[in-house]
Amino acid sequence: MTVPAFRDPALTPEQRADDLLSRLTLEEKAGQITQYFYVIDPEAADEQARVVEDAIRTGRAGSVLFVRDASVANRLQRIAIEESRHGIPLLLGFDVIHGLRTIFPVPIALAATWSPEVIERAQSVAAREARAVGIHWTFAPMVDIARDPRWGRMVEGAGEDPVLGAAVAAAQVRGFQGDLSAEHVIAGPKHFAGYGAARGGRDYDDAEISDSELWNVYLPPFQAAVDAGAGNVMSAYMDLNGVPASGNNWLLTDVLRDHLGFDGFVVSDADAVRSLRTQHFARDLTDAGARALSAGLDMEMCMADPAFGHLPEAVAAGRVAEAAIDTAVRRVLIAKLRMGLFENPFTDEVASTSVVTAPEHKALARATAEQSLVLLKNDAQTLPLDAARLASVAVIGQLAASKRDTLGPWVFDHDTEEVVTILDGLRQRLGDSVAVEYAPGVGIPRRLVPSFFDNQDPSVEETADDHDDEAELRRAVGVAEASDVAVVVVGQRQNQAGEFASASTLDLPGRQVEQLERIVATGTPVVLVVMTGRPVDLRFAEKNVSAILQVWYPGTRGGEAVAATILGDVTPAGKLPFTWPRHVGHVPMIYSHNRTFKPADQGRRYWDEESTPLYVFGHGLSYARFEYSNLRLDAERIRVGQSTVVTVDVSNVSTRDADEVVQLYIHQRYGTSSRPLRQLVGFQRVTVEAGNMRTVRFPLGPDELSYWSAATRGRVQDATTVDIWVGGSSAADLGTVLEVTG
Ligand code: GLC
Repeated sequence: MTVPAFRDPALTPEQRADDLLSRLTLEEKAGQITQYFYVIDPEAADEQARVVEDAIRTGRAGSVLFVRDASVANRLQRIAIEESRHGIPLLLGFDVIHGLRTIFPVPIALAATWSPEVIERAQSVAAREARAVGIHWTFAPMVDIARDPRWGRMVEGAGEDPVLGAAVAAAQVRGFQGDLSAEHVIAGPKHFAGYGAARGGRDYDDAEISDSELWNVYLPPFQAAVDAGAGNVMSAYMDLNGVPASGNNWLLTDVLRDHLGFDGFVVSDADAVRSLRTQHFARDLTDAGARALSAGLDMEMCMADPAFGHLPEAVAAGRVAEAAIDTAVRRVLIAKLRMGLFENPFTDEVASTSVVTAPEHKALARATAEQSLVLLKNDAQTLPLDAARLASVAVIGQLAASKRDTLGPWVFDHDTEEVVTILDGLRQRLGDSVAVEYAPGVGIPRRLVPSFFDNQDPSVEETADDHDDEAELRRAVGVAEASDVAVVVVGQRQNQAGEFASASTLDLPGRQVEQLERIVATGTPVVLVVMTGRPVDLRFAEKNVSAILQVWYPGTRGGEAVAATILGDVTPAGKLPFTWPRHVGHVPMIYSHNRTFKPADQGRRYWDEESTPLYVFGHGLSYARFEYSNLRLDAERIRVGQSTVVTVDVSNVSTRDADEVVQLYIHQRYGTSSRPLRQLVGFQRVTVEAGNMRTVRFPLGPDELSYWSAATRGRVQDATTVDIWVGGSSAADLGTVLEVTG
């Protein structure tokens, strides 16, 4: 019996896909581009599993998500290969956002390292663990620019800036996907596009984005992910300028394919195709499926009753061309063929266990966390603490001892016992030489949310209502008063960040600020540790606490990283990937705003509150001290289209080796459009040994100086005068000027 062409590895994926496509019925084609959730509700596990397995067996499912167990992955693959008509292997996808079993710091923390190399290494470990358990594809990186911290998903991205966002997006794609070897997975940047601009920071709310913001801010990270070779893109839920992203032909075809050059396959967000009816865009599910498919959506991710199940009916009614369905099916088949799934569909169940528990993965998770921490304030060199001069340390706050919250959102396969909390880390680091006393203090109210988003281990956590706040508050103050120093951990629960976690305030939940006030009043020196995925209101702390360390949700070995930093074993070098507003009333507040009439430097914007950020974009202190000097340009005058090189010397004038994130900002003084007062166009994280100097160079040319203009409705580069600054944050003040002539 001749082997059918699609099974011949000597042929190209395209040739094999064409042969297989020719053998499918219309119903089987619709099935190949339908993706089902596997079991996500333990109470309904049997029923959900039965529905999905039946869909696989009958060729109505080509992909499944939320399978994270090697034996289950292999079992579902055997059903697809041995029991369906053509034996087409499944593509298994999952949200591997910042680790699978070994949990790395949340993505906003990865961005805070400002190190593409660190980020790539972290996500390559995440990919290795995912592939080991049979996952072929991750729904990551999330590359949505976020400028409204009320939006909970800020924690999943890289902050407010398109240049930092693009570098982080590309690094994550390289880490996840690499050369698509047996230790990598398809990367799926999401959510295309503009999801972070949800009105009011309300998750899923509609987004109205101007063309210039779309092209200059929201699309560049997607362009970088596509250029890095991402095999998949996930379309967003929300209406973009009145047209739902998942049914938006201009967005999914004109922009994504024709402008950005994407040639992989597009999957919808969960139930986003069915939601075209909910959003009153589509008349019914048949209309929804037909319009999404025709717009350029290749695969429907759904819980049940897929809209794509109605595609044969839509073809019969002339509402979608079968050729359009063929295009989508072909893209999905090529992805499977490129992954080698027809030759190697199964995973080694025995080997998977040693991969996901590899000690070197945990060591890297710790090192990554160390590089992500941001020292916001350090007056009088309060930090690092000197263990030799301490007899007792108070550790205050529920989050200091919460294993689950230390991991952050979007984790499902962690081993709680493996997590090192901040309390654990300090106890391990200080040993018997220093007395460490813990007091949980006031309760941090847990959000009661649908289990899918909660994923909080109730067994591990006390809830706020288990707490006698008054008594616990008094106890915490007492412990602090009796100690040499108090490490006070404040923040938000992990499920108060992430999807479905928009907040109308940036206040710290519960009575955490009151507790901090009472502890500060004891006179015991305070080190404030902030565990959040977004900026929160720290106005009291900024005025009254001498040391403040932002630790994000630092992952499986986060407690070790925090302790090592507080005690000076490592020197923090993280920088903020967003502007930190004083108050929710200032939102949105970004650093790259235009100068406008009555520039901010000529007067206050708000009469009732200081109008400047609490901490600026790119801010982060060190235990070392850096001096910038000798800023120079290879050419101080260039023509439009030409390039120069910006060079600066960075000296470490301290006794500590340390990293510094050197940042390059520009502003053009006139041109086709008004341009931001400051705009990041380059950065490099460098290590400078104590007492030494490093020379850092940046290219500056059309890529950095051009932009999309609403005046010409296209990309332009102006003949103009360009101010240039280099330094350790967006407040850099070492500057020079470049003349760009016509
Ligand atoms: C969610 C999220 C998306 C995620 C998907 C699958 O609703 O919006 O980011 O990848 O569903 O879990």
